[in-house]
Amino acid sequence: MGRDHDDVISQLSLEQKASLASGADFWSTKAVPGIRRVTMNDGPHGLRVVDDIGLRSQKPATCFPPAVGLGSTWNPELQREVGEAIGREARALGVDIVLGPGINIKRSPLCGRNFEYVSEDPLVAGSFGQALVEGIQSQGVGASVKHFAANNQETDRMHVSVEADERTLREIYFPAFERVVKNAKPATVMCSYNRINGVYASQNEWLLTSVLRDEWGFDGVVVSDWGAVVDRVAAVEAGLDLKMPTATGDEAVLAAAQAGELPEEVLDRVARRIATLAERADSSRLGPVQVDYDAQHQLALRAALEAPVLLKNEGGVLPIAEQGSNRIAVIGEFARTPRYQGSGSSQVPSTRVEAALDALTEILGARVRFAPGFTFDEDADADADLAAEARELAAASDLTVLFLGLPDSYESEGFDRDSIELPANQLALLETVAAVTRDVIVVLSNGGLVETESWEFRARAILEGWLLGQAGGRALAELLVGRANPSGKLTESIPVKLEATPSYINFPGAEGEVVYGERVYVGYRYYDTLQVPVSYPFGHGLSYTEFEYADLSVTARDGGASVTFTVRNVGDVAGAEVAQLYRGDRHSAIDRPVHELVGFRKVFLEPGASQTVTIELDSRAFAYWSTTRHGWIVDEGLFTIWVGSSSRDLRLHGEVRLPAQGPAPRLTVFSPIAEWFADPVGARVLQGALAQLPDAHAFELDPTTNEGKMFAAIPLGHLLTMVPGAPQGAAAQLVAAYESALAAADPARVATAPAGA
Ligand code: BGC
Repeated sequence: MGRDHDDVISQLSLEQKASLASGADFWSTKAVPGIRRVTMNDGPHGLRVVDDIGLRSQKPATCFPPAVGLGSTWNPELQREVGEAIGREARALGVDIVLGPGINIKRSPLCGRNFEYVSEDPLVAGSFGQALVEGIQSQGVGASVKHFAANNQETDRMHVSVEADERTLREIYFPAFERVVKNAKPATVMCSYNRINGVYASQNEWLLTSVLRDEWGFDGVVVSDWGAVVDRVAAVEAGLDLKMPTATGDEAVLAAAQAGELPEEVLDRVARRIATLAERADSSRLGPVQVDYDAQHQLALRAALEAPVLLKNEGGVLPIAEQGSNRIAVIGEFARTPRYQGSGSSQVPSTRVEAALDALTEILGARVRFAPGFTFDEDADADADLAAEARELAAASDLTVLFLGLPDSYESEGFDRDSIELPANQLALLETVAAVTRDVIVVLSNGGLVETESWEFRARAILEGWLLGQAGGRALAELLVGRANPSGKLTESIPVKLEATPSYINFPGAEGEVVYGERVYVGYRYYDTLQVPVSYPFGHGLSYTEFEYADLSVTARDGGASVTFTVRNVGDVAGAEVAQLYRGDRHSAIDRPVHELVGFRKVFLEPGASQTVTIELDSRAFAYWSTTRHGWIVDEGLFTIWVGSSSRDLRLHGEVRLPAQGPAPRLTVFSPIAEWFADPVGARVLQGALAQLPDAHAFELDPTTNEGKMFAAIPLGHLLTMVPGAPQGAAAQLVAAYESALAAADPARVATAPAGA
């Protein structure tokens, strides 16, 4: 087949080409002469191979920790290994494309699908996405990074219009996708259901073609989310290659092509991309593969061991000594019946499941006694009896480990939550147990975050286990007894209450619209800038050891900076720390969050050992998006770099001076007089024009006086309408004169930047 598949495509009829623009059925593309059928299946944290629309004939697959858990490891190498393992199973099952990872930003803790997403921060989400895609695709199969873009809620997900300004999209909701597209080259990108500023993602040309392909260089196939296509023809034209599932609507595409309304080149483009995909994402390409499901399970365990976040550990109550003789009450249904993944299209039919209770009993023997404490379906009578039983057990034990969390019915794809509280029966149980013992350790299993503020004083330690996949129960047990040391970190801030979250008044919107009113101030960008208290900050996570940071050096390099520092394990057990780098910019021309994560590194250290870490920051780490200058801007000046253990535990800081970068500002009729005078070319043009006016002296105002300041703030166009004798259209003429003077003085600047709005 020729590189561009011209030989194959030239043999296809218009009907055949039009038919390639949609699926054959629920999970595959159509085959035409010369182009084979491509199969795809969910994803993302394991494989869900189903025969048709329903859930029948699922083939067992390893259930790795969902993104909420795997993301909390902050370990791209481990994430890549998990991607590889998923890719291996895909090959074995004959799946060409894995429908994941999902990397949408956690805008509100209420989003029902947050368990499938990674973080409130685009760098954390993007580096996770890159690692997963690289891993999956190393096995010759394709990945589908989803859901592009701004799919941050389930309420009205198929229709809601996300009303967000371009800067917010560019700085918060796009960069994770941009990173994956540029660095990992995913075979496909899945567009989201929602609209963005009124236009469905599936037919949004700006999104799917200008940004994704022209700017970021995406060269794969854009596939629709299942059922996301509304206008078939508009979607194809906008850059959507493959409508999934099924062929419904094909006739519209064909009819438009036959009527000459849809150029045949557009269908050639689709056919070429599908042909390329068929070659590129082929699970048989690397030959047969044997999957060792025990080894896959061991990897699921390793991943689950790095995910849980130790939120608090008063007086070092954890870990539980393996060799002790104290009696341990294990309470809570989750210990026996693990909640380890979420509901919806991502649900994996696991090969096996390990419960924490079994693993704890295996490790600690007869010291462990169990009481379920509550029911998942909140049955008042049963819960009262179970709580009484649990109280007795706690009173008769030396230590109580209480497994709480969100039952499956609390969160799922398809709907959002309306609260971030634990179920009332579990909170009541905690109160009951805490009344008879101070020694309570809470272990949480939940996909979306839960508030801890109202009850955490009752617990001496909290281990946030998120959802950990099929080996999660064993992982929790090993962490509790110190066979492994917690090293997960929060990828989302835990707010004091729902009402304190940045999107609170704008979530989930109404009447078909959701306004992203908090703009770029999502998660810690909001809490830390406005100094709003949180229960646990972004990036937080304790260890059974301690780390010290030292020797920061920050040096300007290639428009960015090179940052070096040392991390030392000063405790007496081995452990891992996620060192985080934040950038501050107090001099920028526009408002910015007080600091933003620009780098991180997970370091594994034996007791007493230290490691020197170097992180290179490119200019983008310092830039903001300017809507009028249409590009990434670095304002000249001093930037601060902080290094620390969470967004609120910053241990070192340094500064670096960078030059101005990005498209230069351009004067317009709306630019204030002060800006015209501040720009050397603008000042020359304006002064020349003013000199022609009879009352030119009126413009010679002292800029330090109030009168002068008032004058300086008036836009040129407005000012000229008040100047006697100024001809009609004078302002536009001045802008034109400025543009040609600029073209003569600084051609590069004119070439890179469109005139401002
Ligand atoms: C989900 C996607 C999923 C697809 C196929 C949709 O409802 O939003 O994430 O890949 O179904 O199951």
